[in-house]
Amino acid sequence: MDTAARTPSGQTLSGKTAIITGASSGIGRAAALTLAAAGAAVVIHARRADRLESVAREISDRGGKVLPVIGDAGLEADIDRLLDETLSWENGGRKYDIVVVNAGRGLVGGILTSDPAQWQELYQVNVIGATYIMRRAGQYMAEKKEGDIVTISSVVARNLSPFGAFYGSSKAAVSVIAEALRRDVAPSGVRVTTVMPGIVLSGFQEVAGYNAENFGNAVAQFGKLLDPSDVAEAIRWLLTLPPHININEIAIRPTGQVYP
Ligand SMILES: NC(=O)c1ccc[n+]([C@@H]2O[C@H](COP(=O)([O-])OP(=O)(O)OC[C@H]3O[C@@H](n4cnc5c(N)ncnc54)[C@H](OP(=O)(O)O)[C@@H]3O)[C@@H](O)[C@H]2O)c1
Repeated sequence: MDTAARTPSGQTLSGKTAIITGASSGIGRAAALTLAAAGAAVVIHARRADRLESVAREISDRGGKVLPVIGDAGLEADIDRLLDETLSWENGGRKYDIVVVNAGRGLVGGILTSDPAQWQELYQVNVIGATYIMRRAGQYMAEKKEGDIVTISSVVARNLSPFGAFYGSSKAAVSVIAEALRRDVAPSGVRVTTVMPGIVLSGFQEVAGYNAENFGNAVAQFGKLLDPSDVAEAIRWLLTLPPHININEIAIRPTGQVYP
């Protein structure tokens, strides 16, 4: 084999269209900005219209192509509409090549201490909605015989979290589902990657109900935590590898994060 002919991760994403769910904040917003800067046309999705519009403005002010679609990533009908609007978007080429399955939320506490009134909503977006968009994108890409599905799980899928154990169960589920999807679509040339971030400072902590007492004091010893752009850069890197290389899983933690 001619190893000298291998190209490093230098190619850009121009000509590709990427859908990013949960793009109004945190990792999704950073991924949208990063992939757009790498040349992708981006379709961004979330519920909060004002925030999504402001991310869209940031991207278009920098010369990027962007389509904001408002919706709930836990609802099949909203996901169907997201995919339909993407396929009829002229600037995106009426196609999509990349889906970043990122929308999700946390929840403080374990089985005894987390709020059961929030369990359903959490599973609806983190597991059911995530699986639905993975399935639809997997069917579409398997037919096209190319594409990338990047699912944002968490290190807590593998390492029981002292901060949000019930939440961790949803990430364990979505990690298994992403690997199951990979086995379905790998023969068709479609790449599936599970990204497992450690602690990233974003809107996540507030939504989950974390505060100094149940989270902040414990993680202070870990030093500098991740910024959403750190995860976005890892996503850009794995998407720009040659098509025969599929990074199946990536765990990315702040260097000082001992657990989870
Ligand atoms: N931060 C961390 O430490 C960390 C670590 C590991 C994994 N993760 C995972 O990373 C992903 C992104 O989280 P983040 O840290 O970037 O948090 P974030 O800043 O709170 O962003 C979450 C995004 O998901 C969207 N979202 C949540 N529920 C939604 C729903 N039902 N429908 C549509 N969009 C929804 C939010 O948009 P709207 O509210 O506008 O709808 C927002 O854009 C999540 O899957 C999270 O579990 C985070």
